[in-house]
Amino acid sequence: MTHRRKIIIDTDPGQDDAVAILLALASPEEIEVLGITAVAGNVPLALTERNARIVVELSGRPVPVFAGCDAPLRRKLVTAEHVHGKTGLDGIPLPEPTLPLQSQHGVDFIIETLRREPPGMVTLCPLGPLTNIAAAFQRAPDVAGRVAEIVLMGGAYFEVGNITPAAEFNIYVDPEAAEIVFRSGVPLVVMPLDVTHKALTSRDWVEEMRSLGTEVGRAVASWTDFFERFDTEKYGSAGAPLHDPTVIAYLLRPGLFSGRHINVEIETQSELTLGMTVADWWRVTDRPVNALFVGGVDRDGFYALLSERLARL
Ligand code: BDR
Ligand code: CA
Repeated sequence: MTHRRKIIIDTDPGQDDAVAILLALASPEEIEVLGITAVAGNVPLALTERNARIVVELSGRPVPVFAGCDAPLRRKLVTAEHVHGKTGLDGIPLPEPTLPLQSQHGVDFIIETLRREPPGMVTLCPLGPLTNIAAAFQRAPDVAGRVAEIVLMGGAYFEVGNITPAAEFNIYVDPEAAEIVFRSGVPLVVMPLDVTHKALTSRDWVEEMRSLGTEVGRAVASWTDFFERFDTEKYGSAGAPLHDPTVIAYLLRPGLFSGRHINVEIETQSELTLGMTVADWWRVTDRPVNALFVGGVDRDGFYALLSERLARL
């Protein structure tokens, strides 16, 4: 990492979103978090914005939190309480946040920030459905060209879907928004299930978090315990994928990841495969390259980075 990145985290916390936010806030040498925009996704917006504020407060490193869109561009919201619990952030009880919600709409914050900062300065880090980002690009067509890069968690190809047989949750919830983002011309780095399912937690790591003896350590351990039961039952795996922190880890240590520069299109028509990320991994079409689609991760390096950074909070 040669320069300090200015980022906006767009998120629907979500236990794994929460760990991603903590990882970013624990890394001020490399990352400046300009703001966090909440979107409806894992749970409705009223909970995701609240959860984002809880996590920021827990970190002890305040940054502004904005509420964005409360529903996908054209569809009814699909949520994932079956994974994340009723609050979206089930685990140890945490205090109601005192950090106020900003009055500005999250989409306006994204637009204003991109217009204020020099072109190529701001990286967008979406960790949930792409509604806010697409809404910003639709409302202000001049801003897409000012984004440095979008590093997002979403999609699946070889690993196929987690919310339907074909689609990953973040893309499935708002496929029209995903299509706008994937066709925006902004350089994309995509962390699909193909990579996040290689980044499973281990018992040792969860216990290491608990034994940090901090509120952050206890919270991360309890979130992971909660979140894990779903994946271990579903996949029979030993741990759970911490999907969203891969986005921030990529900013900090891109060398932990490997992927291919390929074309990725979003299915928006078929009922059967709605929200599928059709990834031309083998480059069998002439469609233009629009994404670095990540497939590999140094799992131990990823968890070592998380351990080192979360211990700072
Ligand atoms: C994605 O969906 C959410 O449930 C997680 O927070 C992650 O962003 C994984 O499919
Ligand atoms: Ca998420």
